[in-house]
Amino acid sequence: MQDYQAILEEIHESLRKFENTGEVASYIPELADIPKDKFGIHLQLITGENYSVGDAAEKFSIQSISKVLSLAKAFQLVGNDLLERVDVEPSGNPFNHLSLLELENGIPRNPLINSGAIVVADVLLSHLKNPKEDFLNFVRELAHDKTISYNAKIAESERITGFNNYAAANLLKAYGNLHNKVEDVLDFYFHQCSIMMDCRQLTNAFFVFANKGKCLKNIQHLTSSQVKRINAIMLTCGFYDEAGEFAFEVGLPGKSGVGGGIVALLPHCFTIATWAPALNPKGNSYLGMQALEQFTTKTKLSIF
Ligand code: DON
Repeated sequence: MQDYQAILEEIHESLRKFENTGEVASYIPELADIPKDKFGIHLQLITGENYSVGDAAEKFSIQSISKVLSLAKAFQLVGNDLLERVDVEPSGNPFNHLSLLELENGIPRNPLINSGAIVVADVLLSHLKNPKEDFLNFVRELAHDKTISYNAKIAESERITGFNNYAAANLLKAYGNLHNKVEDVLDFYFHQCSIMMDCRQLTNAFFVFANKGKCLKNIQHLTSSQVKRINAIMLTCGFYDEAGEFAFEVGLPGKSGVGGGIVALLPHCFTIATWAPALNPKGNSYLGMQALEQFTTKTKLSIF
């Protein structure tokens, strides 16, 4: 077996010395003050071994990474009916882009851009009895961790400055692709994005996508067909207009968030999460992208 701990330490050490030209997301004011030099990596093998380096045990706001978890819950609840309201094509556009939504009559390109995730949030609102509580419980169950919670301050901070998401939700409503009230759907969406997790908790929660739908405790949450589809969507749409670059350099399904987190996985082999809050111009973690590129290059482990 490869010396994974040594590989993570080598990557961490080499990138620490790198001049980090990224910027911490400031359009959500509550995220603007997170120190730029935080940097953690956690790797979990499907066989149960765990390896950690740096700030891997510090919680951060998972932001768009939550879109994969809400998609999983929506698939669980409504199956392929979801695809009538959201497409599965890469957008080649930034995560908050609106013009395609209008051109394509209110059907978002995919569930991982903001408009798509807002439709998914609407589906959860229609099908869950206590949407925020039930969704949080789902994430806790996947990760086997009751300490995972929303961050009300971050959710409120995003609500106050969330003009773009209000525009997306209003457009969706105008096209008849939002069944609940704009304010209620966005309240749910801002909360899901505010969930706080550390790198290890992310590798726990995403284990289900590396293990044919079974979580860490071997409970079947998703069918293998649903897992195949969710992984395909992560690979093609998980990094917005940098999805091609991530597939090219890293070669794994994954998802980023503007909190600086990235989670990626190799089916039947491992899940890995990185956190480094400074983002590149496309809104993906500057160091995280490079760390994962180094990891799959050094270990020769990728889907290709
Ligand atoms: O809707 C937003 O703008 C944020 N709550 C999430 C954006 C995000 O994380 C994009 N990811 N890279």
